[in-house]
Amino acid sequence: MRAVEIIAKKRDGLPLTPEEIAFFVQGYARGDIPDYQAAAWLMAVYLRGMTEEEIIALTMAMVHSGEVIDLSALGAPVVDKHSTGGVGDKTTLVVAPLVAAVGLPVAKMSGRGLGFSGGTLDKLESIPGMRVSLSLEEFLETVRRTGIVVASQTAHLVPADGKLYALRDVTATVESIPLIASSVMSKKIAGGASAIVLDVKVGRGAFMADLASARELARLMMRIGQGVGRRVVAVLSDMNQPLGLAVGNALEVAEAIETLRGGGPHDLREHCLAVASEMAVLGGAANDVPEARQALEQALASGAALERFRAWIAGQGGDPRVADDPTLLPQAPYRLVVPAPREGYLAALDAQEIGLTAVMLGAGRARKEDAIDPRVGIALMHKMGEDIPRGEPLAVIHAADEASAQMAAQRVLAACQWAEAPVQAPPLIYDILRGV
Ligand code: URA
Repeated sequence: MRAVEIIAKKRDGLPLTPEEIAFFVQGYARGDIPDYQAAAWLMAVYLRGMTEEEIIALTMAMVHSGEVIDLSALGAPVVDKHSTGGVGDKTTLVVAPLVAAVGLPVAKMSGRGLGFSGGTLDKLESIPGMRVSLSLEEFLETVRRTGIVVASQTAHLVPADGKLYALRDVTATVESIPLIASSVMSKKIAGGASAIVLDVKVGRGAFMADLASARELARLMMRIGQGVGRRVVAVLSDMNQPLGLAVGNALEVAEAIETLRGGGPHDLREHCLAVASEMAVLGGAANDVPEARQALEQALASGAALERFRAWIAGQGGDPRVADDPTLLPQAPYRLVVPAPREGYLAALDAQEIGLTAVMLGAGRARKEDAIDPRVGIALMHKMGEDIPRGEPLAVIHAADEASAQMAAQRVLAACQWAEAPVQAPPLIYDILRGV
């Protein structure tokens, strides 16, 4: 088999065999196939798509590019969650300690920023000392000791996704159902959890712009998971505007901490409680969603979830004092307040444009090898539907310098649309799929 023939076959719209897919994916993971051929193949997949059989073969080839974790020794069902990617999506930072506080271990492989969307690993790394590249032994030992582990793919765990994900980020091949489904589900299957809650984002700041494609992606991922014996629920949630108010790595960690302290933006709190409730029910910590929600609200109010957060951060080498003093997180040297240019109802707050602005400030990558700046981002002050007086602060830009802050301020203003009459904000959750 030759890589160039496999690229040509997909370029011409022909389905690949499982052997061809495994040859290509595993060859790339080992370093036998170079980036330029993998980039061409990704673009062919992006443009031509894949059949369901090909997507399942791709997922399993990625799973088998590394080891598969066996979590059965933990003696409790392990529930995982994964978002398909959004702007301001710091859900994992809140949900992992929340779910652990009601008795369920969380062992999770996350991703880095992808395109305009942020990544949990980049967010976690803004905590001084925090390590996300763990060996398999460390991964298991950490969840055993603290009840929570969130780590990256490694040379041992789904290395194919680690490499393909980074390449997709810089080759405009992110927004593809076969590539997203295989990326998410390979990590979930290799991660060893018995139950998975998928948070499938829909809208301007998501890779699925409309509800129909989000449903298609959700159902496909559910079928892949169920095919290998996992219980899977999918939450279809809005991403037309950012989730919460903070966009940018350290800013988002601070907002997640505020939420774990019982405050935080209303939408973020509600979203986290909805996802965590599904996880609690799937993991058997509650009989139904209302019972789960009550226990989770109690874990927030009592400080039990915040305590779990401290233990998790310390368990991965991070400084747990950030939970009590978020000023220990990296701070941007330059801040610029963006005032509302007019009076009116905020009718749109384009999540994609806000995400791209954060990337421009340095919160994401333009090339694979770029380092991110954990300090920078956008702290929004308002959400869609709010009536805002002229001159009222709309956002605060956190930047490395004045020039980038000024540029970001213009882009934030361009991301807003205004209306004279009241406007309805989009719903937070469109649907929850509990069976396919
Ligand atoms: N999250 C992932 O892990 N992979 C994707 O492709 C998109 C979101």
